[in-house]
Formats: sequence, structure tokens, C-alpha cells
Amino acid sequence: MATTDVYMKKEWDNSAITKARAMPAQARVPAEFHIGNVRIAPATVLAPMAGVTDTVFRRFIKNASMFTDPTAPADVDVETTNEVSGCGLIMTEFTSADGLSRMRETKRKRYLTYYEDEHPISAQLFGSNPETLADSARICEDAGFDIVDLNLGCPAKRVVACNGGSGLLRDLPRIKEIFQAVRSSVSIPFTVKFRMGWNDSNIVCVELAKMAEDCGLQAVALHARTREQGYAGDARWEWIAAVKDAVKIPVIGNGDIRTPEDAAAMVEATRCDAVMIGRAAPANPWIFRQIAQYTASKQATGIGSYTKPTDLDRYRMIRDYFDRLMHEVAEHPEVLGAADDDLSKRLKRNHESAQRDAIGRMKQFASWFTHGVPGGATLRREIFDCKRGAQVIDKVEAFFTKRAEEPAQEFVPEQDEELEAAPASWG
Ligand SMILES: Cc1cc2nc3c(=O)[nH]c(=O)nc-3n(C[C@H](O)[C@H](O)[C@H](O)COP(=O)(O)O)c2cc1C
Repeated sequence: MATTDVYMKKEWDNSAITKARAMPAQARVPAEFHIGNVRIAPATVLAPMAGVTDTVFRRFIKNASMFTDPTAPADVDVETTNEVSGCGLIMTEFTSADGLSRMRETKRKRYLTYYEDEHPISAQLFGSNPETLADSARICEDAGFDIVDLNLGCPAKRVVACNGGSGLLRDLPRIKEIFQAVRSSVSIPFTVKFRMGWNDSNIVCVELAKMAEDCGLQAVALHARTREQGYAGDARWEWIAAVKDAVKIPVIGNGDIRTPEDAAAMVEATRCDAVMIGRAAPANPWIFRQIAQYTASKQATGIGSYTKPTDLDRYRMIRDYFDRLMHEVAEHPEVLGAADDDLSKRLKRNHESAQRDAIGRMKQFASWFTHGVPGGATLRREIFDCKRGAQVIDKVEAFFTKRAEEPAQEFVPEQDEELEAAPASWG
């Protein structure tokens, strides 16, 4: 089903901002932009999200973003290149620079794992020590990342306590030292992602963006909220516009994009070079493809439209993601019988930890993905009680089989409390 160029009203929409963000017909996301010598096409970025954007999720989103014919359902199983993906750039979840520089080679590899089809990919670091950050940036460059990014937005207490993340927003001289140290240690492009400032009496985003440009950084990304704001209220896009006015390097706008219309409206309102999408991605993994469809149709006809997923698409999507997670578990085979030597004990531990991790991610994803799906709450409850991945997959299959027998009902996205409550823990 195609939807037209009308701003869709959703439950969590605030009508004042909806009106403010209504956009003219020409508004659309740019086809490409460059970060240093790295071409990003289209100009869309998957936001770094701790506990979410691991390699399985990133590849899943990249595949889900694929589009060839806007009217054909996307095949999530086909490997995609950047040219046919609606998602131009992906980023790792943030990694501690202190941890990375201390880790042994094998553990490091686990943290920095990515697959060839994830290029271009940016590695995000947090920390407060210029030398350690410079060392870690070099490690990322050696690991083949295309871009290295510094996190200055994370409000998590454990990060801020050691002056990392948004804690640094109160110490611009230290940020400058970090910019200079990292810039001189790597030759790949270096970017920074930040919030507007610590609070309303300390808005530093414009100054910070200028400093980044002066220090040779190649792009900045702004989540247009203060640290104190957490995720409350609306993202204040006017500050993205202010940053864009102040610098020549590309500006990536971030905060509250939930639909293709929102993405186009942000570009129109701020003139940002690219848009970054966080919480909408796990709730609607088609968002990047929908933006691409919307952009292409708007360019061709003046009216933006995009396909909405059917139940079958939803089923295939959740199955695809869970299969990917199970595939990771299978890389740590089960140890049958008693594990009575050191090697078997280690293998058993690895298997159990991979299994636990996969189940945790399945539960988390199922929760985001099924909000608004009729009967989704029942499925979430059932999945919550599962102990093994195969059981989760059985529940999902049974759920969608039953849905297929029932009359079709419209999917209406709902607010997800866990994602919306991110202020307590994330960037
Ligand atoms: C679960 C979760 C984890 C996050 N982890 C990070 C992170 O590791 N690094 C970072 O810079 N921002 C992190 N963020 C913030 C997002 O990258 C993004 O800036 C924010 O969610 C606003 O964008 P949105 O409105 O599109 O979600 C996280 C957000 C969420 C919801």
C-alpha cells in the first residue's frame, strides 16, 4: 500500500511540532554527501545505539534498506551494496577508548567486528583522555574502518562520571585537545557526534562545530537536545540549522525522525547535509528504504510516496533478524555431555553466553518491532517466557500463521516505552 505526501498523524505526534514541520513539495533528503574522501549515498545514517547496532543488527538494517523497484517488496535475504541501499552509512555502538586500548588483540577483534558489506562504516569511540582516544582511533583505522567518530552526547552516568560522552560538553579546551590528538593520529576522516550542550544555560553546539572544523574534522552530527533534556520534549532542529550556518563541513541532523516526511522536513528546515536515524530503525527497519522511495518518487512526480510493509513482510523481517542471531549462536556450538576439561568448559560458557545474548536481543527486538501490531502484546509476553532461540522462532511463526488466517488489520505504530525512556541510559 502506498502512502502519499501527507504528514501522517501518529499517536506520539505533538500537533504543534507537526504543524511546524510541514514541508514544501521540493523538500527531500540529498542523494549523497561526502565525509572527507568517503562518499555516502544516499545521505542517511544509522545512528550508533549501544546494545542495538551490533554487526547483526547493522547488516540486517542494511539489507532491509535495499530497494530496486519501489513497488516490489524488498528481499531481505539478498546481499546489498551501498548503491542500492537506502542506508548510506552505518555506525558501531560506542566503544570505550580506555577499554579498547587495554584489550588483548582477540577481545578487540570481537568489539570491532564488521563484515565487508558494511562499508562505509564508522567506528564510534568515547573517552576523555586525548592520547588514549588517539591510540584507539588508530586501532580503528588499522581495523579498516572508513571513519572514526567521537561521542560527546552520551548522558549515561558511568560515562559522564569519567568525563566522557556529554560530560565533556562542559570542557571545550579538553575537547580541543582531543580533536587535535585524534586528528593527527589517523588519516581516515574523523567526525564528532554531540548534543547541544549540557543544559539550556550552556549551549555550545555552534562553538563546538566551529572548533571541530578548525581542528580538521570532516563532519559533525548534532542530536538536537541538551544533556539535561535526556529524551524529553522535542529535538530542537533550529540548532541544527544554526550549526549548519556556522560551518562548511557537512552537518548531519539527528533527533525525532520517525517517517520519510520527518526526514525531508528536517532537511528543509535546517539545510543539513544528511539525516541520522536512531529509534525509528528497530521499530521500523524499512525506514531507510521508505526514505529512498519517498525521495525518488518526489523527484519524479513531485509527490512523495512509499510502500508500507504487509504482515508477510513483517514476518519475514523478524524471521530474518532472528535467523541471523541464531546463526551467530551456531558459531559457538553446544557442548553435549559433561564439560570436564578447561577447553570444554570454555566452549560451554561461550555457547551459553551467545545463547543468552541472542535471546536477550530477540526479546528486545520483538518488543520494539511488534508495537502497534494487533495482538503484539500477547506475542511479547509469550516471547518473554522463552528460554531458547528456537522457542522464540516457533512463537513468532505461530503468531503470524494465526494473523494470516484473520482479516487484515491496519498496523499503527505506537510509542515504545523502553525506546522512549532512553534518557536514563543513552546518548
Ligand atoms: C538504545 C539507544 C542507544 C544509544 N546509544 C548511543 C551510542 O552508543 N552513541 C551515541 O552517540 N548515541 C547513542 N544513542 C543516541 C542515538 O544515536 C540518537 O542520537 C538518539 O536516539 C536521537 O535520535 P532518534 O530520535 O532518531 O532516536 C542511543 C540511543 C538509544 C535509543
